Amino acid sequence: MEDSAMMLDTLAVHAGREDLNALGVHALPIDLSTTNPLADVLSGGDSYEALASGGTVPAGGSAVYARLWNPTVARFESGLAQLEHAQAAVAFASGMAALSAALLAFAGADGKRHVVAVRPLYGGTDHLLATGLLGTEVTFCSPDEVSGAIRGDTGLVLLETPANPTLELVSIAAVVEQAGAVPVLVDNTFATPVLQNPLDHGAAMSMHSATKYLGGHGDVIGGVIACSEEHASRLRPIRAITGAVLHPLAAYLLHRGLATLPLRVRAQQATAGRIAEWLATQPGVAEVYYPGLGGDPSGVLGSQLAGPGAMIAVRLHGGAAAAERLTSAVRVFTHAVSLGGVDSLIESPSALTHRPVAADAKPDAGIVRMSIGLEHPHDLIADLARGLA
Ligand SMILES: Cc1ncc(COP(=O)(O)O)c(C=O)c1O
Repeated sequence: MEDSAMMLDTLAVHAGREDLNALGVHALPIDLSTTNPLADVLSGGDSYEALASGGTVPAGGSAVYARLWNPTVARFESGLAQLEHAQAAVAFASGMAALSAALLAFAGADGKRHVVAVRPLYGGTDHLLATGLLGTEVTFCSPDEVSGAIRGDTGLVLLETPANPTLELVSIAAVVEQAGAVPVLVDNTFATPVLQNPLDHGAAMSMHSATKYLGGHGDVIGGVIACSEEHASRLRPIRAITGAVLHPLAAYLLHRGLATLPLRVRAQQATAGRIAEWLATQPGVAEVYYPGLGGDPSGVLGSQLAGPGAMIAVRLHGGAAAAERLTSAVRVFTHAVSLGGVDSLIESPSALTHRPVAADAKPDAGIVRMSIGLEHPHDLIADLARGLA
């Protein structure tokens, strides 16, 4: 970790750009090389060996091949690692590629194959675990059942907080304590490093669908895991072997996105707070899911999570039909999956993002999820009022 004393806003603008002055450039350089010159056979072989076994480019060495290393991606990784108070970060082609690498690294080798997963989770994560596609076996549980679910072959504990889609808050420290020696991976996509740093609470890894708030403009897909250098060295070879690499153009956009991340998250959060309070007064709304609204029995808000964030879910009186009416009637919100961008999105998780989740764990059909963007709250409230009318 570099410059840990700097404030988040400063780091967001400068982290990962430390070598630019020496390069004589001001904007992030994009290196599109798929292959790299090797000084001679011996040093080329040394670089290859170092990268293929999970290390970084040796001093004076070569990046060798873009599936092993890319400097534009490495700068984004360094920036994100600093925001997450981590030694390292490893970037992937998508959030699901990042999760797959973590499963293969920690629950796919050394006699480990079992994963303990705290529900609710993003539908794609739930699906990957439930199908056992990567050879893992899963026990789904609630946050206080983690210690009872751990087995001798448990390689990973997985949780999301705030959780997708109903914003449940989970105490990371309490799960870490129950997990004992088993590494805990926290999906930090909803909170972002602006509101939550899972490693500060004992998690081994903080994962992001970088597609969401980190990019922030709905035009790039990526994933990243912030962790110790030791854990990063287990993730990198899997990325290299499976080829789940982040493209340098995507890394450029994600790194550029980091600079405005604190401003975007705080502004989107302020609007979300106003909208959540307004939704709670609407007769068509049976329940509003927004951290802190109506209390916080978990005690997580304000200690682990600096603010409630910019995601809201509501359960509508009238079930699936009411959800269908609302999502079709809006004009400022876009009816679409994904989240975390500058424009507001709305969707029905049971029909879309959480469609593959088992029936007993699927969100209620009357639940609608909103990602609040940077529009004026007045226009968003007017749009929802039209949809609820
Ligand atoms: C919380 C969460 N984690 C992981 C993912 C998967 O990320 P990606 O779509 O970038 O593969 C998503 C995607 O919606 C998500 O919302």
